[in-house]
Amino acid sequence: MAIRQLPPVLVNRIAAGEVVERPAAAVKELVENAIDAGATRIDVIVREGGQALISVADNGGGMDRDELVMAVERHCTSKLPADDLDAIDHLGFRGEALPSIGAVSRLSIVSRPSGADSAWEIRVEGGVKHTPVPAAHPPGTRVEVRDLFFATPARLKFLKTARSERDHAVDAVKRLAMAYPEIAFTVTGDDGRVILRLAAELPGGMARPSRLAALLGRDFGENSVPVDALRDGYRLTGLIGLPTLNRGLPRDQYLVVNGRPVRDRLLIGTVRAAYQDVLARDRHPVVALFLDAPPAEIDVNVHPAKAEIRFRDSGRVRGLVVGALRAALAAAGQRSSTTASAAALAAFQQPSGFAAPRFALPPPALPRGLAETGNDFLRPDPVPAPPEPDPEMPLGSARAQLHGTYILAETPSGVVLVDQHAAHERLVYEKMKEGLARHGVARQTLLLPEIVELDPDLAARVAARADELAEFGLVLEAFGPGAVIVREVPALVPGLDIKSLVRDLADELAEWDAALSLKGRVESVCGTLACHSSVRAGRRLSQPEMDALLRQMEATPNSGQCNHGRPTYVVLQLADIERLFGRR
Ligand SMILES: Nc1ncnc2c1ncn2[C@@H]1O[C@H](COP(=O)(O)OP(=O)(O)O)[C@@H](O)[C@H]1O
Ligand SMILES: [Mg+2]
Repeated sequence: MAIRQLPPVLVNRIAAGEVVERPAAAVKELVENAIDAGATRIDVIVREGGQALISVADNGGGMDRDELVMAVERHCTSKLPADDLDAIDHLGFRGEALPSIGAVSRLSIVSRPSGADSAWEIRVEGGVKHTPVPAAHPPGTRVEVRDLFFATPARLKFLKTARSERDHAVDAVKRLAMAYPEIAFTVTGDDGRVILRLAAELPGGMARPSRLAALLGRDFGENSVPVDALRDGYRLTGLIGLPTLNRGLPRDQYLVVNGRPVRDRLLIGTVRAAYQDVLARDRHPVVALFLDAPPAEIDVNVHPAKAEIRFRDSGRVRGLVVGALRAALAAAGQRSSTTASAAALAAFQQPSGFAAPRFALPPPALPRGLAETGNDFLRPDPVPAPPEPDPEMPLGSARAQLHGTYILAETPSGVVLVDQHAAHERLVYEKMKEGLARHGVARQTLLLPEIVELDPDLAARVAARADELAEFGLVLEAFGPGAVIVREVPALVPGLDIKSLVRDLADELAEWDAALSLKGRVESVCGTLACHSSVRAGRRLSQPEMDALLRQMEATPNSGQCNHGRPTYVVLQLADIERLFGRR
């Protein structure tokens, strides 16, 4: 066989395979071009899921005749004037979208530059370019894509139902609209039905919240909290939903990095980690997050459809996002504030205004003598001096469980409030670390091995890590193409929900760099393990279980805070309590 350079039409069809995977991808590319052209209004039409027709009209800068000819040539772009891939300030830069689309469809572009008094139209059909002809069109550009993939029937077969393809296309527009609130958008479907209509928001601070409300509903506006964090030149802003506002799919997670909507595994995983303690594992929060990073810190040139990006320092981004989200959720009062005994004390203070009588009628005044007697009667006996705390049991004896989440324990000198979930997570972490450092984590053989079905891809990923997982006490192996079989589990994680643990581990492994050892992620792995134990928030614990947890905490180093630095318990000394009641 002779080696040869492929003809351009074929090259473009090959590129189209990556750039325009489905109609929504073409919609995304065309809307990006309209945004890059400075449009303030963009009208999209999608017929039969985009397969019959995609039309994107804008009122942006437009193209003249010569520019139209160039625009459909491969690697022709107006967006990298300095040939500098580190200074990308448009959504486009690859010069691939129009030639790729033209190679697999019947493409027509009609355009008129702002200052010109006439328009030109160019057509490309299955890669065959025609010469431009004069046309009538107002300033701006309209791109029409008909019979998408007619030239690549194989791809046609992979399309889903028209409805599903249309939904994806609308979603692509929504994601861009989220990032550009000052642009008006419409999306019209079959029979001229308007599917999405977004008015241009006035420039200014309200533009983004108004657009978010228009896209995500008032519900989101009312059930979300703002995020605003700045660190090392990275700025994270946006709105995140309260844990109570959650979804079965991670679809309502909008992530915009430097003006570019992305579906970034790192960010999605990070959002999940931030909600880990406050949301069930199979539920997903609603978030709209905007990250502005120094351009040199990110690489957008890693994905043909520009859907993924790479961060130079992903650990830093992860830290920023998790920290900011957790802080925002905590500020919203979704987690009981357990930062310190002092904070607990402050929370216990009588709210101002409460001291005044709340009832409408003042109580009848008692005769003076009687009042004093009454007061004497009500005055409690002096509190006996506290006995020495039992040095063996500084966390005291469990007395009650509150809200299925906190353990209230009594010590000789006060009370202790323990966050059972955070405490358990810490215990697992410390024991694992100890086990890993020595001869390995104690394991327990399952009487009945558990088979967990997974996506074949994910199953392979988990099985590939079997040796490493065994060090954590989780012994499993591949079981056919789409499953793993779990034979042993870590002994110190009671009531492990194996199926959901393995599924979550699989998801996490997919998010992590394959080169990174699990030992390097010991916190995450232990957090995940602890999360699937029965000692979660919301689980009723028996008296012996609670006492056992307290004793384990006493025997464990660093048990005063969870893996994320939050305290696992707070102590209120009797003296503090007395002060609260004005006895001291
Ligand atoms: N809607 C539009 N308005 C004005 N110019 C456009 C429009 N769409 C495309 N162009 C021009 O065509 C060029 C090629 O577009 P495209 O193939 O999407 O590559 P890229 O966006 O990466 O530059 C763009 O760089 C731009 O100059
Ligand atoms: Mg483009």
